[in-house]
Amino acid sequence: MRNYTLAASVLALATGLSATSAMAAGKLNLYCSAQEDWCQLMARSFEEATGIDVDMTRKSSGETFAQIKAEEVNPKGDVWWGGTGDPHLQAAEEDLTEPYVSAMRDQLHDWAIKQATSAGDKTIGIYSGALGFGYNTKLLADNNLPAPTCWEDLTKPEFKGHVQMANPNSSGTAYTTLATMVQLFGEEKGFDYMKRLHANINQYTKSGSAPIKAAGTGETTVGIVFMHDSVAQTVAGFPVVTVAPCEGTGYEIGSMSIIKGARNMDEAKQFYDWALSAEAQNLALQVNAFQVASNKAATSSDKAPNMDLIKLIDYDFKLYGSSDERKRLLEKWDNEVSTLPQ
Ligand code: F6P
Repeated sequence: MRNYTLAASVLALATGLSATSAMAAGKLNLYCSAQEDWCQLMARSFEEATGIDVDMTRKSSGETFAQIKAEEVNPKGDVWWGGTGDPHLQAAEEDLTEPYVSAMRDQLHDWAIKQATSAGDKTIGIYSGALGFGYNTKLLADNNLPAPTCWEDLTKPEFKGHVQMANPNSSGTAYTTLATMVQLFGEEKGFDYMKRLHANINQYTKSGSAPIKAAGTGETTVGIVFMHDSVAQTVAGFPVVTVAPCEGTGYEIGSMSIIKGARNMDEAKQFYDWALSAEAQNLALQVNAFQVASNKAATSSDKAPNMDLIKLIDYDFKLYGSSDERKRLLEKWDNEVSTLPQ
């Protein structure tokens, strides 16, 4: 059956026929943790390519992990596409996701395959991107603030109330920020940094990219986000400058996993194979998603941050994506950072 549906969809794509007419339609429940417009485009394009009906829900990485965990005995989702790799790794370790080796794997960069092999093939890399921050040039000038170039600059007293980031419990971006500080400065100094930063934070948002959207529209001066999300604001016409912090920074391997006990397992595997193709990954360019794609043949935008020019730490995905460590760091942040007065 699976071979038939795959062959049918390939035939439909090749002949330009509506796939719906070429095969019986199934359905797929897609949990998506990338940006909303990319999630929508992936869902609609897969429907067009295969005739499979997609019901898509967009939630942040930590939130989706929590939902999959809560639904463990009665899974409602089939595939989790996008979001930072750490909670995907945690889901693999907690046996919430299904091993799958796609025939498409050979087409991927090593870093994407490494994510899979380190997790018993229960997840795989679909894109990567470096953490940084962006600022609104107009607000910076209006407030007579110096242009920040380093993480340390964001803790200066003059930036009080000017910095926004997401909550690391809900957002993979913010968890990457926390884990990056611990790796960059060591645990004690990393938490000390998060405490000093907390004094300047005007709001912890639920979604990781919200702070830079707020910077674009002038609701905050600085947003701590993945650099690709910041560049997207500039490309959209907002007065936003993107910074690769001088001390160095962490990065994500955005990932995809099939949910254990998925009710639509055949469709989940079809989506998984399709999402690893260069054609599907190139859809990112239509929605200004400037991550680095995991398929070696996918096209990178010349506007995407150049990872080779960014001082990246050797992010320890195995440790920071482990269940114990992620829980421990989040609990410590909840108890020692978020409760401090501002
Ligand atoms: O799609 C934008 C993006 O920054 C991805 O690169 C990342 O995986 C995801 O959002 C993280 O979102 P959140 O921080 O809301 O979990």
